Amino acid sequence: MPDLIRDLETLADGARLSIGAALDERTLEELRVRYLGKKGEISLALKGMGQLAAEERPKVGEVANRVRDEVGSLLDRARERIQSARLEEELRGPPIDVTLPGRRLLPRGHRHPVTRASEEIVSIFSRLGYEVATGPEIELDWFNFEALNIPKDHPARDMQDTFYVDEGTLGAPAAEGSVLLRTHTSPIQIRAMRRAGAPPVRVVAPGRVYRSDYDQTHSPMFHQVEGICVGPHVTFADLKGTLAAFARAFFGPATRTRFRPSYFPFVEPGAEADVSCSLCGGSGKREKARCGTCKGTGWLEVLGSGMVHPKVIENVGFDPRKVTGFAFGMGVERMAMLKYGIGDLRLFYENDLRFLEQF
Ligand code: PHE
Repeated sequence: MPDLIRDLETLADGARLSIGAALDERTLEELRVRYLGKKGEISLALKGMGQLAAEERPKVGEVANRVRDEVGSLLDRARERIQSARLEEELRGPPIDVTLPGRRLLPRGHRHPVTRASEEIVSIFSRLGYEVATGPEIELDWFNFEALNIPKDHPARDMQDTFYVDEGTLGAPAAEGSVLLRTHTSPIQIRAMRRAGAPPVRVVAPGRVYRSDYDQTHSPMFHQVEGICVGPHVTFADLKGTLAAFARAFFGPATRTRFRPSYFPFVEPGAEADVSCSLCGGSGKREKARCGTCKGTGWLEVLGSGMVHPKVIENVGFDPRKVTGFAFGMGVERMAMLKYGIGDLRLFYENDLRFLEQF
């Protein structure tokens, strides 16, 4: 038997032992290089082939191939053995507790100042016994204008120009201008009274409203909170008392209120409510200069209000001889600006975290 064949058999014995003893994949990889690599032991042994007699070469070649195959499959099996042993060990190890808290606490966000102001307003009226209601932002002309005593060619419509929805896109037969983005939350007065079916009705209603306006103090979308209180014997004194209590709760206990006559088609009489300036305390002066927020007047205009117009009471099917009530509506952005001392409405919608994180 030529030396080469003996060498190959010895090599195979060594490989069987060392592969069988290997405990990890790194050792296996080293053994693969050592036996089967380009400069490995098998290749090295075969370098001597050239010196062999021609009839011996096939025999040596056959042994070399057998040894190479055997070493290859030994390595494969050893790899499987090692991998499944590792898996066993992992499964036997301590279980992963998926209920443990995370190591890094995620930074907690917070509510937008407009949301905060709106929720605060609503919560004050909830404490006064008002129910919370909402209505659709895409509204029928009838609820937004007509039922509120603002007929088609009424000049009040000019102050509340809005975005009209093409009814065709809603699958209804086109009737121009009868579906729109609501211009105020007042249609919820109508919806709330109709839903209740009979007085008393006491509802506060927050929501988005739309107008085609855009400048420093007007955005095409903004927020309002509406309120309505109707029942037997509700008077203007109730309106004043309620709104004064609200102003103290929202702006602070020292806040004073005053009412000026104003016009809204759906109330009679109508009044604009002012509160003593939250920033200068009503003095009109701040740091010896004129207060910029109230322009030195000491007063801030905060909302529209009035006694619900008899025609509106009638439009919802109540009897205006037996039922009276008051309603009010305020702009949430404006309330937030006055409460937090914010000078520019656009800051609310720029989503600059340096601004938002202050609330
Ligand atoms: N809807 C009115 C507006 O948007 C405000 C208002 C509401 C006035 C209720 C009176 C009563 O300007």
